[in-house]
This record gives sequence, structure tokens and C-alpha cells, in this order.
Amino acid sequence: MRIDVVSLFPDFVRQCAAVGVVGRAQQRQLLQVETWNPRDYTHDRHRTVDASSYGGGPGMVMMIEPLRATLAAVRNAAPEPAHVIYLSPQGSRLTQGRVEALASMPRIALLCGRYEGVDERLLAHEVDEELSIGDYVLSGGELAAAVVIDAVGRLQEGALNDALSAEQDSFANGLLDCPHYAKPVQDALGTVPEVLLSGDHAAIARWRLKQSLGRTWLRRPDLLSRCVLDETSRALLDE
Ligand code: ADE
Repeated sequence: MRIDVVSLFPDFVRQCAAVGVVGRAQQRQLLQVETWNPRDYTHDRHRTVDASSYGGGPGMVMMIEPLRATLAAVRNAAPEPAHVIYLSPQGSRLTQGRVEALASMPRIALLCGRYEGVDERLLAHEVDEELSIGDYVLSGGELAAAVVIDAVGRLQEGALNDALSAEQDSFANGLLDCPHYAKPVQDALGTVPEVLLSGDHAAIARWRLKQSLGRTWLRRPDLLSRCVLDETSRALLDE
């Protein structure tokens, strides 16, 4: 998969994408992250990308022309059509379901706004989708782009060393993840639940599912109404 990122801070985005699972996915050539700086597509001495907002008020707006030229270069850089996403608090909320859909696309482009945002006409004509990573305001789209790259990158086949870990993630089945423990069994902070040491795989799976259900009920009851348990999980609870 290829992800093109349009940003005034390309170094920051590249550094975020260079570490951990996503960095490894790039090394394994499962993911290609390219950055594009709109300042490189300006024609004035100051490399101007923003202007004041018509109608007055504080803050600057990113202008159409440098972004349109940048997106044209992005589209020309590879044969696959790019699904263009603008990151902003006005977008629809990013969910694991949407992440999975994006991860199956051959190519997406992420447009990062700065200042008060981007000229609405560019959004109307060049952007396919507007996404928010949560109900709070960041000073730019770069951190949100890093979130999308991470969430989408780790789902590329072969990116995670253990493919099961993506299946067992929080939200993978609509539930929060269960608790996890590592050695030692006994510690001043507590003891590992006995069932996890039993070697009884069905009992462990049942315990984990019950923990997930309990946690989701306590912490995110809103998720429970939308969660549909698969056959295996239902069978575990029936036993
Ligand atoms: N840019 C600024 N705030 C944002 C948010 N909450 N989500 C996505 N992009 C943003």
C-alpha cells in the first residue's frame, strides 16, 4: 500500500512513519509513505501557502493553488488512483472499521491542514473524505495523519510479527481487549490469574472473552450495543 502525505512539516511525518511496526512495514516494502510539501509548489519568493480569511477574523487559511498543484503532483506520481483524505476536527470520526477499509485500499493521500484550515473550494473539489481522530482540536493535521498511518500500516499483511495480534486487538471484534500479564507469576503488585497458567486453551479463551465483555460493559457500554459475537465466542460462553 502507498500513503502520500501533503504537509508543511514533512520531516515530522516521515519520522513518525519510520519507527516501530510501521517503520518495519516500510522496510519490508509492505507500505510506502511519501511526503509532499506544498511550499515546493509555490512561485513566490516567500513560498507563500496561506492568506487571510475572507470575511475577517483571526487566523490564516491555506490557499487553493499550492495545494492543487501539490495534489496534482501526488496523483501523477503513481498509477493507482489516490483516495484523498483531509484531516480535520470537522470530519467523521475515525473508527477501527474505517481503518480496516482504508487498509485494504491500494493508495490513500492524507492532506494535513495548518492555521484555520484549507480553502473550502479545494476541499469540495479535491477531497474524497474528511476524517477526525477525535473531538478535540490539534494545531495541525500531522499528528492525525501519523495516527492514520500507524493504524492502517500495522494492518498490512506481514507487518505484525504475529498475525493473531491484529485479530485480538481491542475493537477487532467490537470489544475492548482483555488484560495481559508477563512474568513473574508472583509480584508485590499481584499474582497472574490462575487460569492463564492452566494450559487449558478453551478455559483461557473463555476467561479472556469474559474479561473483554466485562471491561467493555464498564468502560465503553456504547460499544456493546453494536458488538456481534461470532460463533466461536458464543460457543465459548455456552459451555
Ligand atoms: N486537525 C486538527 N484537529 C484534528 C482532529 N481532531 N482530527 C483530525 N485532524 C485534526
